[in-house]
Amino acid sequence: MKIDTNIKLPLSFILFALIAFVVAQIILFFSSGELVAGQFRQPDIWMGAHFLLLGFAVMIAMGAMYQLVPVAFLTPIWSQTFGFIQFFVTAIGVTAFAILLGVKPNIAVYGGAVVVIGVLMFILQMVITISKQEKRNMMTYFVMGAISCFFLTIIAGFLLAWNIAFGSINQHNTILATHVLLGVAGWFTLLIFGFSYKLVPMFSLSHGFSMKWAKPAFVTYVVGLISLILSFWLNNGLIQTIGWFIVMIGFLFFFFDVKEILAKRVKKKLDKSFAFAILAIFIGLGIHVVAFVVSLIGISDQATWSWLIFLYIMGWIVFSILGYLNKIVPVLWWTYKYADHVGKEKVPLLKDMINERWNLILFSLFIICVLGLVLSALLQLGILVWIFQGLLTITTLLYTLAVIRILFV
Ligand code: HEM
Repeated sequence: MKIDTNIKLPLSFILFALIAFVVAQIILFFSSGELVAGQFRQPDIWMGAHFLLLGFAVMIAMGAMYQLVPVAFLTPIWSQTFGFIQFFVTAIGVTAFAILLGVKPNIAVYGGAVVVIGVLMFILQMVITISKQEKRNMMTYFVMGAISCFFLTIIAGFLLAWNIAFGSINQHNTILATHVLLGVAGWFTLLIFGFSYKLVPMFSLSHGFSMKWAKPAFVTYVVGLISLILSFWLNNGLIQTIGWFIVMIGFLFFFFDVKEILAKRVKKKLDKSFAFAILAIFIGLGIHVVAFVVSLIGISDQATWSWLIFLYIMGWIVFSILGYLNKIVPVLWWTYKYADHVGKEKVPLLKDMINERWNLILFSLFIICVLGLVLSALLQLGILVWIFQGLLTITTLLYTLAVIRILFV
């Protein structure tokens, strides 16, 4: 059975995503005034946020899934041609939607409709592909859970865009909270959990680990998400604090498994990209702890929560993606270009494709920028926010060029 995907499919998603990543940072750079004021619900920030979350993070997740699902689930992608059509529909939809959110939010719903079609095509592709898997495992549950959250996120997003256009729904803020939670914590977090069970052992060469926390992590995290959504709709602070506690414990269970996998690894010295993805796990857990404490002591101020969400998106989701992507692209490219030539002619080694010194500089810059941004925004130092966002934009561009350089080795 042929399970490998035509490399052009994941690569199209990845290249589009990298461009969107740079565009998002440029937009946020020009909106740094609104960032300082903690006003995230503005057209410019909606545009930057959706270029980052839909254009970059979602497109990378889709591209990575086209590559990883066949390998991890041992089943070929249902239809690669459908995959290419899905890529074009989603890319056009995301670009149109994000731009409209920034320049004409009252008609963004039309771009949003195209995004919804693209995402539904993706979900259909994945559901058919995964349903062909012979033996279900814990990863199947994480990925199916993530896809279910993704479905609800885009429905909620569509309702928000609809409401901005026609204004007929009363619960706008409740839908927004549900949308952000399901998108950021449901879809991305469950997906990263699931794929980490494959990628962490693979990149650290670990064997004989138990994964005994995987099921509790999945169940607890999902129960936590449901409690949080309930609390939004019932407007109940107590349930919300309990919800934050439960998702924190779910994350902790996942963390226990990663700890065990790493303890049983053969490869003692981790490379920079992978270490960065592991750092993201610590940041994700840390933010869950802070979210619980902030909810417990009753801080409901908008700016604090906005910056916590920002940190979660950058420090957990984006950092995980940046670390893993820098590992996946060389493997993808090496396999495509050189795997068949091994033994017949001299081929570059995988490590020749990776520049560890550059990675160290880039990842350090990412950490400095994100920390600098949050601290200077909380201290209301406008000029520093501007400088750190500018530096983040340059770092993003350099990272993008570094990934593209791999394709020229
Ligand atoms: C996984 C995908 C998505 C994620 C993670 C996501 C996340 C977010 C976040 C974090 C915000 C708050 C941004 C801010 O306040 O500046 C937001 C707002 C919004 N999202 Fe999404 N989004 C996603 C997909 C979508 C889609 C597909 C649509 C439309 C079809 C959509 C429509 C909206 C709208 C209209 C708002 C602004 C609502 C308001 O502030 O009143 N989103 N989204």
